Amino acid sequence: MRYIDVDGRQLSVVGLGCWQFGAKGWGYGRDFGETESLAIVRRALELGVTVLDTAEMYGRGASERLVGKALKGVEGDRFLATKFAPVAPLPQVLMRHLQRSLERLGVDRLDLYQLHWPNPLFPLGVQVEGLRRALGEGLTRYVGVSNYSLSRWRRAERLLGIPILTNQVRYNLLQTQAERRLLPHAQATGHVLVAYSPLAQGALSGRYRPGSGPGGVRRVNPLFTAEGLQAAAPVVGALREIAAGRNVTPSQVALAYLISQPRVVVIPGAKSVAQLEANVAAADIQLGDDELLALRRASDLFRLSSVRAGLQMLGRHRGRGAAAS
Ligand SMILES: NC(=O)c1ccc[n+]([C@@H]2O[C@H](COP(=O)([O-])OP(=O)(O)OC[C@H]3O[C@@H](n4cnc5c(N)ncnc54)[C@H](OP(=O)(O)O)[C@@H]3O)[C@@H](O)[C@H]2O)c1
Repeated sequence: MRYIDVDGRQLSVVGLGCWQFGAKGWGYGRDFGETESLAIVRRALELGVTVLDTAEMYGRGASERLVGKALKGVEGDRFLATKFAPVAPLPQVLMRHLQRSLERLGVDRLDLYQLHWPNPLFPLGVQVEGLRRALGEGLTRYVGVSNYSLSRWRRAERLLGIPILTNQVRYNLLQTQAERRLLPHAQATGHVLVAYSPLAQGALSGRYRPGSGPGGVRRVNPLFTAEGLQAAAPVVGALREIAAGRNVTPSQVALAYLISQPRVVVIPGAKSVAQLEANVAAADIQLGDDELLALRRASDLFRLSSVRAGLQMLGRHRGRGAAAS
């Protein structure tokens, strides 16, 4: 595993996304939560993963509860992150929700508390005030935002007066908007970009074909439509080619691409211990310049496709509202 050092704390470049736990929409079955998800968290810690990312809205608290259960009595360095759903982002509401998250997670303090998405209906200063209180009362070591533009992230930080360490945004080889402004900013200033959906929710694994896309929460993801999968084919093809030459999988190459860049932490979700292990192993893959270039070219082709234009529109629409997860 490789790490990003933040004030002596080690953030694993491959973390674990925990939306899948306790969220029926992923379709992993009734037993997934109580059995596989606990095994996934424990194995992640054994393998040196420190970053665990959950949210109060995942499974309406079920994900936090399962992560808390998995962590009980387990030693090891960890960087525990959860998110506040800012529907009514008043400071006192945030503090109440934070207390409940702490209880579900079974800890006295978080490492990172994030605003899950921007809420333009409330002044940013009010939303940031909640973060200030959380920090002031020692209930979280760091604060972060999610789905924020660069200008909003910087404005929030100015209002808070101290660093907002992370911005968690969608970032994968099919959705590379973060590379334009957010990533250069994080790299230049010592912030951290947390990449969610780094496998494009599984679309980059290469196992989905038109007509055989996954259901549940992914039914609305246009990447799994026939057009989406077709447009993504050059990227998946490039991943396959590089993966074959290295005896790894396309998913591992997709993660290796993202973490080849400084200040990026990926938080792939996993439906099994085997997937988690494969994702962790991606931290050891060092892609060469020619491989990175081939992936960038394939990604650019996707960006230029007309489907991409449609996807962007949908991304903007989702980024604004309730579909942020
Ligand atoms: N802040 C936000 O608004 C937001 C939004 C979305 C997600 N997130 C966070 O980011 C995390 C990850 O994002 P995500 O779950 O949307 O997408 P993702 O990590 O890109 O995709 C996860 C899915 O990919 C497949 N997969 C995982 N490892 C694999 C492997 N080694 N080989 C092949 N397939 C593999 C699994 O699905 P199948 O095997 O079933 O295909 C898994 O459920 C979430 O858990 C959550 O913590 C945050």
